[in-house]
Amino acid sequence: MSAATTPAPCSPEDVRRVACIGAGVIGGGWVAHFLARGYDVTAWDPAPDAEDKLRRLVAAAWPALEQIGLADGASQDRLTVTATLAEAVADAQFIQESAPEKLELKRSLLAELDAAAPAGVVIASSTSGYPMTDMQTEAADPARLVVGHPFNPPYLIPLVEVVGGERTDAAAVEWSARFYDVAGKSVITMDRELPGFIANRLQEALWREALHMVANGEASVEDIDASITEGPGLRWAFMGPCLTFALAGGEGGMAHMLDHFGPSLKSPWTRLEAPDLDRTLRDAMVDGCEEAAKGRDYAQLVAERDQGVIDVLRATGRLGGAR
Ligand SMILES: NC(=O)c1ccc[n+]([C@@H]2O[C@H](COP(=O)([O-])OP(=O)(O)OC[C@H]3O[C@@H](n4cnc5c(N)ncnc54)[C@H](O)[C@@H]3O)[C@@H](O)[C@H]2O)c1
Repeated sequence: MSAATTPAPCSPEDVRRVACIGAGVIGGGWVAHFLARGYDVTAWDPAPDAEDKLRRLVAAAWPALEQIGLADGASQDRLTVTATLAEAVADAQFIQESAPEKLELKRSLLAELDAAAPAGVVIASSTSGYPMTDMQTEAADPARLVVGHPFNPPYLIPLVEVVGGERTDAAAVEWSARFYDVAGKSVITMDRELPGFIANRLQEALWREALHMVANGEASVEDIDASITEGPGLRWAFMGPCLTFALAGGEGGMAHMLDHFGPSLKSPWTRLEAPDLDRTLRDAMVDGCEEAAKGRDYAQLVAERDQGVIDVLRATGRLGGAR
């Protein structure tokens, strides 16, 4: 990381104004989160219908946010949607970028944000997998650019993975980790860049195998989903895959687990190559999901998911985002 310092304009505890750039599924989810935590939020998105969609998303998220508890003064009225990117970031004390996952777009957008934002304000990208080193190439002050990778929906799933690029100032990584923590997120700070960070690398392994099974007609979309929600997913909500496998080794713990099941790692269960995502597989996934939805529309599924996450957080004593 760069040795240059990017002094933050205020401490993470003193942030009052946050800008969200790109207001789709994730940007809108961030807007809902920051509003619920009592921040003033400015948002900008170039799509002509962006403001309507954003306000609908926030309104749909609000009942869940009320249920888990709003910060004092939190209000949907504290959202301002601006006509330009420059207006959105002019007074911002923290900026979250959630534009489409296209490298060239991220590069030029981060450079544009860097040029428009007040000096020293940290700019975080929601990217699902691009290393910041690859995205910060065009910015005049790359030292203040970090990755702050959320999970959908950012207003309910606590985790944010924070990591800098080669030209990021370590102080910017530290500042943003502290800021997310103050803003009610659960933070993992990574000291090096990994493609897909930690969680997406794990999710991709599962996802790849799911696509193989559908492509080969080995399992339906519904069975794949049930195999997780009725099985290991119940444990993963409070104990990660490593510790749950250590328990699977009985009193012998992880040592017995590895000695016993280690050889099966070479079994043909895993097909490490990605499947060919052709039209047939795409349609099988789309049709399978439609069948699994059993007539529920997007809004119903979002409400069900939100309630499910809240119930799990409540049941495991983690409402409020603390780990
Ligand atoms: N969807 C997820 O589950 C998820 C999870 C974690 C991270 N992410 C990451 O979040 C980012 C946004 O993904 P999403 O799922 O919200 O996508 P999305 O398609 O729902 O939203 C993207 C938004 O960006 C807007 N946009 C287009 N060009 C833009 C520009 N030049 N500047 C600013 N905004 C622009 C679009 O109008 C759209 O509203 C991506 O980097 C993605 O990898 C997504």
